Formats: sequence, structure tokens, C-alpha cells
Amino acid sequence: MLRIAKSLMVALFLLLQINAFATEGMWLPQLLGRLNEKEMKGMGMKISASDIYNVNKGSLKDAIVSFGGFCTGEIISSQGLLLTNHHCGYDAIQKHSSIDNNYLANGFWAMNREQELPNAGLTATFIVRIEDVTKAALVGVTKNMTEKERMAIINKNLDALKPTVKKEAYQDILVKPMFEANQYFLFVTETYKDVRLVGAPPSSIGKFGSDTDNWVWPRHTGDFSLFRVYAGKDGKPAAYSKDNVPLVPKHFLPISVDGIEKNDFTMVFGFPGRTQEYLPSEAVKLVVNGQDPARVNMRDAALKIIDGFMRKDEKIKIQYAAKYASTANGWKKWIGEMQGVERTKGIDRKIAYEANYNNLLNKDAALKAQYAGVLDTLNALYVNVAPYANAREYYMELTRNVETFSVADKLVGFLSEVQQKGADSYDPQRKAFLDKMKPLYQNINAKVDQDVATALLDLYFQNVHSRYIGGEGYQIWMETNKDGRTTANKMYASSALVSYEQLEKFVSQPYNDLVTAIYKDPITRFYIALRNGFVENVNKPYEEIQAPLVKLQREYMQVQMDVLKDRRFYPDANSTLRITYGKVDGYEPRDAVHYDIATTLEGVMEKYKPGDYEFDVPEKLRELYKTKDYGRYGVNGKLPVCFIASNHTTGGNSGSPALDAYGNLIGLNFDRTWEGTMSDINYDASICRNIMVDIRYVLFVIDKFAGAKHLVDEMKLVNPKKGAKVKPATVQQKRA
Ligand code: ARG
Ligand code: ASP
Repeated sequence: MLRIAKSLMVALFLLLQINAFATEGMWLPQLLGRLNEKEMKGMGMKISASDIYNVNKGSLKDAIVSFGGFCTGEIISSQGLLLTNHHCGYDAIQKHSSIDNNYLANGFWAMNREQELPNAGLTATFIVRIEDVTKAALVGVTKNMTEKERMAIINKNLDALKPTVKKEAYQDILVKPMFEANQYFLFVTETYKDVRLVGAPPSSIGKFGSDTDNWVWPRHTGDFSLFRVYAGKDGKPAAYSKDNVPLVPKHFLPISVDGIEKNDFTMVFGFPGRTQEYLPSEAVKLVVNGQDPARVNMRDAALKIIDGFMRKDEKIKIQYAAKYASTANGWKKWIGEMQGVERTKGIDRKIAYEANYNNLLNKDAALKAQYAGVLDTLNALYVNVAPYANAREYYMELTRNVETFSVADKLVGFLSEVQQKGADSYDPQRKAFLDKMKPLYQNINAKVDQDVATALLDLYFQNVHSRYIGGEGYQIWMETNKDGRTTANKMYASSALVSYEQLEKFVSQPYNDLVTAIYKDPITRFYIALRNGFVENVNKPYEEIQAPLVKLQREYMQVQMDVLKDRRFYPDANSTLRITYGKVDGYEPRDAVHYDIATTLEGVMEKYKPGDYEFDVPEKLRELYKTKDYGRYGVNGKLPVCFIASNHTTGGNSGSPALDAYGNLIGLNFDRTWEGTMSDINYDASICRNIMVDIRYVLFVIDKFAGAKHLVDEMKLVNPKKGAKVKPATVQQKRA
């Protein structure tokens, strides 16, 4: 009896959790009025949906840009000043840096417009308008088509549609599938191509805490940088020119210096990259029991080895810093994801959700007749695909982390292209290949790579069944007694891929000789054998399951929307403009531990380790701390640094503005908390938090630390809590 009561309670608890969706969701801005406005106002929002998205007048969306396609940025002055993260501007800052002008180490501040630095290839894209084009996209599509037939018709429909869309010549059109391609949305966009670097703090502020603090709360990073969007004299997008002028935006964000308190309403507006919130339970199991462990397993080993070298050798540290950071970023996130799903009983919640779904589906005779088996078949397919998906992760990690294998991959790729295009293309393609390899080799140390190969080959052959590796690769593995060390020693002793000079010589052979030679070189030979085995035994069966899987996933999505009538659905993130909202709030990561909402400069000083590459603090900042010279940005003798809230964000939301109830800028999004990184597949309001830099810290660093007050003067600072309630400021666009 007690047991039944207990399991009923658990079921009830899980169901209640399922319905606790208040802060979950990455919503399409044009649908807020219909789906979210009421709830947002209930949570404290003081503006309306049409202040956020409006095609007839300037609205918040006109201040938000996709920064380079990989991050978000926002316009914070009437002269096109753009704010984003330090880690988003990192590449640009690095490219302008040299030994004499090391902007990564020392920071960079343009003291006037002439000093602002252009960045070839860097773009800022505004969203002009969003339209639902589902009907037009799906004309002629039927349920029983193959995926290939369906795609062909949709592409044809979209090709016919695009020329009929109203837009200016300098604008672009982008169509994106939503809800697993049950719906299609069209975006009219405007891309500015002259984006200049204006300011960046030193890494000891902008990247403070580095990899150790990455994904972690409490956090003390001033992760911001400043750019400026330039337009042609007519105010329209233009290629870089000295004569371009700062963009006059349709809207820019006023900045609230009144600070945040627990439970304050917040919104994050930006371009989240990818989530998978509607996977069935077996797919979540696959991610956290198969794919994540595979990736973490391989990266654990690679990172340990690289770290060992980096600590001993300054040159290797520089060569591997960026690669290490990006490998570690995923590694750490996936560890958090596995733990988070476990702790929040993510799989049990999915199973309870599916029981509820089945229950509702069974009550609807018409839907049941059509879709009764969808979920079960989908789950079964995920079970079937799991061994291939896992082997696939191992293969991808092997060829990603062993850099000579990635070189071998590109070499084979270019040779097969020559085979297709004809011998005439050999010389130009060889040159293009070498041009790409040269900078790559500048950051490869053969000794490091050999040790990584040693460890990862052992792991690969231990964890991937020989039937997925194939005879050819296994044969070579046996030649060296199935031992990573012996195999790697042999490979790196005589391969041409261990240095750029040898590679250059290797590919200087005539085409036919080179094609023979790659089967003799020990690295390319092994790589080709492993690749052939992978393509045949893993990727082929994997792809064969993908087509029915994608179709079922789409049907499952549609049926969820049909039967769960009380639930509001948002489409998975796909790098399109979204808004998410929540509240400033702490959380309990584990038993007896409570995390507070905000950090201060006190915490920076607590973490300070003189000379350390992660936790050093610049002298000027230490001085300002000592004299408590915080100006208008401090509160009661302390300087705010970061804060957290329950906004549902993901990769790509970096650089997104955190907005208050009035649409004023209060912070800059840059990360999530470790316990909550499973929000990408299994959001849970109890522990999923996004991390933002407090805008007052950003202003303080610009003004007091860098002495670039002229930039703060360009912005519009407001006091919505203290003074009049300020509505979003709208600047008229000067356009012909
Ligand atoms: N974790 C953040 C994101 O996913 C920040 C990454 C950059 N920072 C770092 N220390 N690697 O992108
Ligand atoms: N740090 C991520 C980004 O760069 C944001 C996140 O994953 O929360 O977009």
C-alpha cells in the first residue's frame, strides 16, 4: 500500500514538474502577443509584445543582431555601438594583436573613431521581418512521401516563393524549418559588413577564470567587448570603406544602472543555436548514456595530455590554448549535461511525459488511428541506431583530436576531388590544400599529437567493437600488437604528416605517385583503413536509420502539439531570433548548498592568484578595488560583477542582452551554470540558470578602468527603478 502511494506520489511529482514550464522556452518574437504576453506581464513585464517585435516602428528586435553568425550582439547607442562577449570578439581581438600590441593581454580601447579597427568578414545581421510560410512551403506534400521527395517539393516551393517576397535590394531572405520541419518561417534580414573593433578589456578581466571557471557559478568574468556597425553614406549595408559612417539604428537599448534584485523579471533576446527538447526517452538515454560518455571519455584523455605539455612548455601553451579551450568547453558541458539529467530524473520525466501523451492520444480516435505507433517506433529506432551513433562519436573524436588524422582526412578529400574534376585541377587544389595546412601546422606539435594518438587509439579500440571498425583497420592494429604506444611510435617515426615541410614535399609528387604513396605512409594508410571501416560499418547503417527517424521525429512533434492542447510549444533553437524570459533567481545545486544571485568584485579578489594565467588581476583593477573608486556603478561600497536568472538559453545566446521589465539593458549573457547545461535536451526550471555580466561592471570597466568615458557618454543611461518608468527609446532611422 505504502509502495503504491509512494509511486503515485512520484508520478504526480513528475507530472507537476512537467507542467512547471513558466521559464522554459525560446519563443519566436512575432508570436509573443498570442502566446506569451499575458504570462510575461504576470511575471512583471511592463512593456507589451509590440514593443518587442513590430514591423511598423522601431522595436527591441531592431537593436539585436546575429554577430558573425555565431553569437549575438546588441546596439547600445544612436551611433551603432555594439556590445557582445569578449569570447565572441576573441578572434577579431586576436587577429589585431601582435607582440608589441597584445590586445588580448592588455586590452584595446579606441579613443576616437579613427582608431576603430576593421575586421574583414565580420558581419552584423538584423531581422527586418518574420513570416510564417508553412502553407506555401508544404503545397503538394503528402504524408507518404519519402524524405527525399518531400525535400525536393519543399525546395521547389520555396524557390518559387522567394522572388515574390517584398524586400529591398540590399536585404536577404532566409527560410528556416521549425518544429522538426512541420512549419517553415521566412526571415527578411539586413547584413552589415563593416563591423569595427572599439574596445576590449584585457583577458584577465574578459576571460577571468578561463577554463576552470567556465560553466561555473559563482562567476567573476567581465566577458564583454565593443564593436561599431558602419553603413554606407546612405545608411545601408556596404562593404568596408574608409568613408562609411556609423549606423543610425532603428532602435538602441537604453541601459539601466539601477541594478537587479531577486525575482526581477528578465528577458534574453538573441540567436540560440541548437536545442533538442522534444526527443523521446530513448533518444535522451542515447545522449547521456552513449554519446556524451563517448565524447567525454576521448576528450578526458586528450585534454590531460595536452594540459601536461602546456604546463611545461610556453610555446605549446600558445599553440594549443584556443584548441584546448574549445575542446574543454564541450567536454565540460557534456559532463554537466549527464549529471544534470541524472539529478533531475530527466529520463523518468520523459517516460512520465510519454505516458501522459499516450493516454491523451488514446482518447482521440482520429489521431490514434493515424499515429498510434509513432512514439514506440521512434523509441525503437533510437535503440537500433544507438550502437552506430556511439561508434560514430568515438570515430569523430578520434579524427578530431588526433590532428594528423584530420590532416589525412583533408588530404584524401582533396585527392578525391581531383579525381572527380580531372588532373588539371591537381596543381591549384594542391596549392589550396597547402595554404590551409600551413597555419594549422603552426599550432601542431608532433610530440603532443603522437601522445594524443597513443591514448585515443587505445580508447578507440577498447570501446568500439571490431565489427564497427572493419577488417582493414583491425589488421593494422594487430600488426603492432594492438597497442597504442607501439602503433603511434611507428606512425610518427616515418610519416610525412608530422611536419609541414615533410607534408609539402610529400604532396609535391605527381598525382598518380601521391595516390600510391598515401597507402604506404603509416598515418594516411591507417587513417584510410579506419575511415573505410567507419563509412561502411557505421555511417552507412546510421544514415539508413536517419531518414525514417527524421520522419518519425517530425510526426511525433506534430502529434505532441495536437494532443497536448494545454501546453504551449516553442520550436527548438536553430540560430533564429528568439526571446526567453525568467527571473533573477538563485538555486540549490546539491544538498545543503545554496547559490546566491549575484557576485561582486570582492569575489574577483578572493580568486586572485598573482601571475596565474587564469586568475591574475590587473594592477589598475586592484587599485580601484583598494580605493573603492566605483563611481555610480557601485552599491554600498561593493561593485556588482555577474548575476544569474532562469532564462532558457543555449550556445549562440552568448552576447545576448539581458533586459529588464521595460526593455532596458541590465546585463550581458555569456554562459550557463554547470548543473543546468542539460537545458539543451531537458530543461528544468529548478536548476537551469543563465549567467550574465552585470551591465554596471561593463560600464565601470569602460569608464573607470579603461578611461574610455567617451563611450559611456554615447550611451543612454536610465534609472527606471528610481525615477520615471522609461519606455524603450526609439531613434528615427535616417533613410531615404
Ligand atoms: N561556456 C561558454 C560557451 O559555451 C563560454 C565559452 C568560452 N569561454 C571559455 N573559457 N572557454 O560558449
Ligand atoms: N557560452 C555559450 C555561447 O557562447 C552560451 C551558453 O551555452 O549558454 O553561446
